[in-house]
Amino acid sequence: MHIKEAKFVISAVQESQAPQDEVPEIALAGRSNVGKSSFINKVLQRNKLARISGQPGKTQTLNFYSVNDAAFRVVDVPGYGYARVSKLNRKNWAKMNLNFLRQRRNLRLLILLMDIRHEPTQLDKAMYQFAEELDIPFAICLTKADKIKKSQWNKHLSLYKKSLNLPTTDALFTFSSVTGEGREDILDLFESLLMDE
Ligand code: GTP
Ligand code: MG
Repeated sequence: MHIKEAKFVISAVQESQAPQDEVPEIALAGRSNVGKSSFINKVLQRNKLARISGQPGKTQTLNFYSVNDAAFRVVDVPGYGYARVSKLNRKNWAKMNLNFLRQRRNLRLLILLMDIRHEPTQLDKAMYQFAEELDIPFAICLTKADKIKKSQWNKHLSLYKKSLNLPTTDALFTFSSVTGEGREDILDLFESLLMDE
């Protein structure tokens, strides 16, 4: 798949504020600071499309990006597990974002981003459970792959397979928004899902 153009559409805090049309969507979820916004910029090749920051908790709203003249949209979901948020905010996070993922009829794929360097956190595991129970395909993308040696990638893939109790490593992708490694595989995945339209 070739990315011809991409642009920001809207920020929303609930499904009713999201575009109401038939455009297929791919959502990205993951721990705060895992690299969701960087992933969007790298995959869509637009450096400043999604805001990136050294501070976790940057993305607080559901942000919609339209790609290739509305052939599809990518949705950046606010990160979870940000240590400095209160219990009430955590509840609100779940209400806003899990409800969105449950309700959104446009969704064709959910990508769960997790840090390749670490074992999945409790919240990563809970998110995986949640994704499994949804009625849409999902993939797990291991980010920041440039931070470990390539010779170590398989070891970390196996660790994820074991921790999440996956039958195979088929749903696992490695990605780096620094080197762009894994980008082509992600675009192939997008294409294969959107071709069914
Ligand atoms: P929130 O919006 O807070 O949920 O964070 P996010 O998941 O959108 O993460 P973001 O893309 O803002 O990246 C967080 C930090 O990680 C930034 O300092 C990025 O530069 C860095 N980062 C993201 N992806 C990669 C990667 O693949 N490799 C390396 N080395 N750093 C990365
Ligand atoms: Mg972000």
